[in-house]
Amino acid sequence: MKVFVTRSIPEKGLRKIKKRYDTEVNPEPRRLEKEEMIDAVRDKEALLCTLTDMIDREIIESGKDLKVISNYAVGYDNIDVEAATEKGIAVTNTPGVLTDATAEMAWALMLAISRHLVEGDTFVRQDRFEGWDPTLLIGTELKGKTLGIVGMGNIGQAVAKRAVGFEMDILYHNRSRKPEIEKTIGAKYLDLETLLEDSDFVSLHVPLTEETRGMIGKEELKIMKESAYLINTARGEVVDEDALVDALRRNEISGAGIDVYADEPYGANSDYYDLDNVVLAPHLGSASHKARNGMAEMAAENLIAVLEDGMPENIVNPEVLKEEIR
Ligand code: GLV
Ligand code: GLV
Repeated sequence: MKVFVTRSIPEKGLRKIKKRYDTEVNPEPRRLEKEEMIDAVRDKEALLCTLTDMIDREIIESGKDLKVISNYAVGYDNIDVEAATEKGIAVTNTPGVLTDATAEMAWALMLAISRHLVEGDTFVRQDRFEGWDPTLLIGTELKGKTLGIVGMGNIGQAVAKRAVGFEMDILYHNRSRKPEIEKTIGAKYLDLETLLEDSDFVSLHVPLTEETRGMIGKEELKIMKESAYLINTARGEVVDEDALVDALRRNEISGAGIDVYADEPYGANSDYYDLDNVVLAPHLGSASHKARNGMAEMAAENLIAVLEDGMPENIVNPEVLKEEIR
């Protein structure tokens, strides 16, 4: 069987696939264009892709023999799952293995923005540091502050657990309540509006769906405290970026820590670049050795499970495999 891998992922996963199948890996360190993708999947049984590959209906339909699209990511908003399901193609993802890495990234941004870490780094490198100064880059402590978590899935919960150590009050909003988390860490459930009103830090951990697209817009930013910070390690489009840039410019909120952008996979919003009250990262949530190795293994195992007529551990559209006896 033939497999196409769109980017060079860690050997830990690649090895497993190469051992079993005729495997073609895009040798170049770049995202492939749509036409190249269409060509590449034409004679393949399996596609292993990343979140920068926009797997639309046209690409899916050109893969006449495709049985599985294994996404090297937990989010799968880059794939037209409906089109894949219609064609009986399994779509798999990599939850769990990147939970801690992404949660830690949210904390890195929270600490960096609240304590002017990046501004401070620039300040020192510019050779402007002339000794301790009583008024230099005074920030905000986390202890005693309120963290509002929007989306209490695996990553949201991992962020919440760490907030206990920082002695913060924890609020959350989610489609469904999580009584277990309320009990174990004392997180309090609120509707989105009240959470935004009461939080000193708001951290987003929802997947990008039709419901969550633009969920933080002009109105929501207005509700937030002037002293509050917004952290986004989820997807850029969950936030109305123009509204956020506007709110940051007018100091309607205190700052933001941003790892994801609406313009992905093409880049970031350059309107952020001249703002001091934002810390920017280039989508590094899952960028730890441990997470990336785990994702590679999981993406490979998911793909192999489908090709070997099994049920993968992580499948987005299980109905395509349930119809047959596997
Ligand atoms: C990263 O953003 C992922 O969805 O894996
Ligand atoms: C200074 O470094 C202080 O901790 O007060």
